[in-house]
Amino acid sequence: MELLGIDIGGSGIKGAPVDLDRGELTAERVRIATPQPSDPLAVADVVAEVAAAFDQCGGPVGVTFPGVVRHGVVLTAANVSDAWLGLDADALFTERLNRPVHMINDADAAGVAEAAFGAAAGRSGTVIVLTFGTGIGSGFLVDGQLVPNTELGHLEVDGVDAERRAAASVRKREDLSWEEWAARVDRYLATVEMLFSPDLIVIGGGVSRRADKFLPLLRRRTEIVPAALENQAGIVGAAIVTARLEA
Ligand code: BGC
Repeated sequence: MELLGIDIGGSGIKGAPVDLDRGELTAERVRIATPQPSDPLAVADVVAEVAAAFDQCGGPVGVTFPGVVRHGVVLTAANVSDAWLGLDADALFTERLNRPVHMINDADAAGVAEAAFGAAAGRSGTVIVLTFGTGIGSGFLVDGQLVPNTELGHLEVDGVDAERRAAASVRKREDLSWEEWAARVDRYLATVEMLFSPDLIVIGGGVSRRADKFLPLLRRRTEIVPAALENQAGIVGAAIVTARLEA
């Protein structure tokens, strides 16, 4: 079975049909720049445009969002427009696309996808998938079950919101070396490790492709591996969650 997944990011909105049995995209992703300002109606128009590019894939659509989404309602929007706060996104998108739409947090989607088909497949216990991008997102799984909206990117570490020091975007913005950035990530992961004693930490986000540059520099005792689905995890996870909700 196929289901359309769409990933709303700070800079791009990307979508593709997902083969739910294999966790793979069945067509080339379509990417359209995120409108600025990233207001809900403007974003919904772009999501509809991405969906229209795959009109052979009908039915429900899974959409990710870079903030807390509880039962389709957006509760936080750290790196996108405040106009989203309190919005029933499932209702808005279902009406705009004229088909059932479910929105979930982007890192939760990545966590579900990595647990189903990626680096956390078959792993029991506590698994934390951390996505390093514009911010830091977290997908928290216990015996393969998602605990949604954990927001571990906003843990306060040394008095600072963690993503402000250790997100992948900060490495570029502050022109940090891999060593400097890895030290910040290591400090952050020490806090995560201390609080949750996870069995596995999966490092996701675009930077997971460069894992060889920083994973060897980390000093944690927890097993830490790069994500397997790279930048497709959001699309795949949104499709999986939506299929489960619609079943
Ligand atoms: C948001 C999270 C999101 C993460 C990655 C954070 O700033 O609070 O909800 O998962 O960025 O996009």
